[in-house]
Amino acid sequence: MAAWSALGIPTISAEAAEGTSTSATQFPTNRPATFPPDFLWGTATSAYQIEGAVNVDGRGPSIWDRFVHLKGKIIDHSTADVANDHYHRYREDVQLIKELGAKAYRFSIAWPRVFPEGTGMPNPKGLDFYQRLLDELLANGIEPFATLYHWDLPQALQDRYGGWRSRDTSKAFADYAGYVAERISDRVKHIFTINECARMVQAGFGTGIDAPGLMLPQKEINKVRHHVALGHGLAVQAIRAHARAGTKVGPAENIEICIPAIETPANIRAAEIATRELNAGYLTAILEGKYTDGFLTYAGANAPKFTAEDLAAISSPIDFVGLNVYMPNQYVVAGENSNDFALLPFAATYPHMDSNWLRIGPEAMYWAPRHVAKLWNVKSIHITENGTSAADQVSADGKVYDVDRIMYLRNYLTHLHRATSEGVPVQGYFVWSLMDNFEWADGYDKRFGLYRVDFQTQRRTPKLSASYYREVIQRNAVM
Ligand code: NOJ
Repeated sequence: MAAWSALGIPTISAEAAEGTSTSATQFPTNRPATFPPDFLWGTATSAYQIEGAVNVDGRGPSIWDRFVHLKGKIIDHSTADVANDHYHRYREDVQLIKELGAKAYRFSIAWPRVFPEGTGMPNPKGLDFYQRLLDELLANGIEPFATLYHWDLPQALQDRYGGWRSRDTSKAFADYAGYVAERISDRVKHIFTINECARMVQAGFGTGIDAPGLMLPQKEINKVRHHVALGHGLAVQAIRAHARAGTKVGPAENIEICIPAIETPANIRAAEIATRELNAGYLTAILEGKYTDGFLTYAGANAPKFTAEDLAAISSPIDFVGLNVYMPNQYVVAGENSNDFALLPFAATYPHMDSNWLRIGPEAMYWAPRHVAKLWNVKSIHITENGTSAADQVSADGKVYDVDRIMYLRNYLTHLHRATSEGVPVQGYFVWSLMDNFEWADGYDKRFGLYRVDFQTQRRTPKLSASYYREVIQRNAVM
């Protein structure tokens, strides 16, 4: 890093910098912006993106193993065969979490490690890995939050049933969920069923960018989403039946976040209505036990076929809602009449981070949990992911000064603080991601970590954002 003088900037006295100089103008401040006393600060990862060891200890192949080896699917032609080699380095990685001072860690369990064929004979060595990880986390004072499905479907289920195109996969998911919950709920108190239904359905079955790489017509896409929702609901039931009493369960969803373009009462109401309708295929159905009239009318002949029993399963009571918050999905204004809304176009100049899709709109962090709490009277919310890719450069001194990531986090956290200080019941926040990892179709090209990973040497180095986050955690405040 260049010294100030080298940059031609005159140095100021430490006194003046601290604002303690008698001649310095004083500004009143309402900082620090503190969070509730027991607020849970964490980081997140997922199995396929970090573990590697894809053929080790009896793990079966997943749809992602198959997908990454197809030509042209991954931008940098990489695979996650090794990824962060976390399977062998998990002890070192737990220390990274500890060094941040984070009290919680969200990770995912790879279904094909536990059931290599998706159903049938479990592979004890698969679950053993997670038992070791749990012990290590707890020994270091870190509370584990487990996700059961972060997109790595056993390939066997894709071959046998067409994966999520069949409700047999929903049932298989529930069996796997019950099996795992029974064996981890002595140490895991929070279980997430499915990560980002919206993304996995759209990218896996619509655009084909994600595994299994299908481009299906809308009717089939709606059917797949229905099976995922059913899988979630049946898993909730199986977890309740097999886990220890008191185990908390919920989804981790990337809802369509609708933001009032100008914060007026009419626009706020319109944004709430839009949030309900634009999430009608999944979160609204989970929380209301029905598909909205708007959704069914819009889908018309493409609507999924469902029974009352399906809807009852889908809406099995949950304990919290997990929200992955990255960006504003829609800016909204009120429509002509009181229950109408209008979605505004994004200007071509709308700013984004290193990933083109990752629009910068920190107020999404306020509105997402607020809408969920208001619309459905949800009493417990976790921000299960938030973070950004950045074109991190290693400086001559070996450090990564990712001030853009700090800017992003600071602004989103400021809006999260607005939410908690207004009483929106957010209890935890997990940065995506603990360390750089395999970013799906972007391979290793997009880096989301607080720690930089050199994928040649597997060396992990804290970025400046890790220091920032450590400070946030230590103060329990955004600054
Ligand atoms: C959400 C997904 O859950 C995660 O797997 C992904 O890496 C991040 N978004 C960033 O794209």
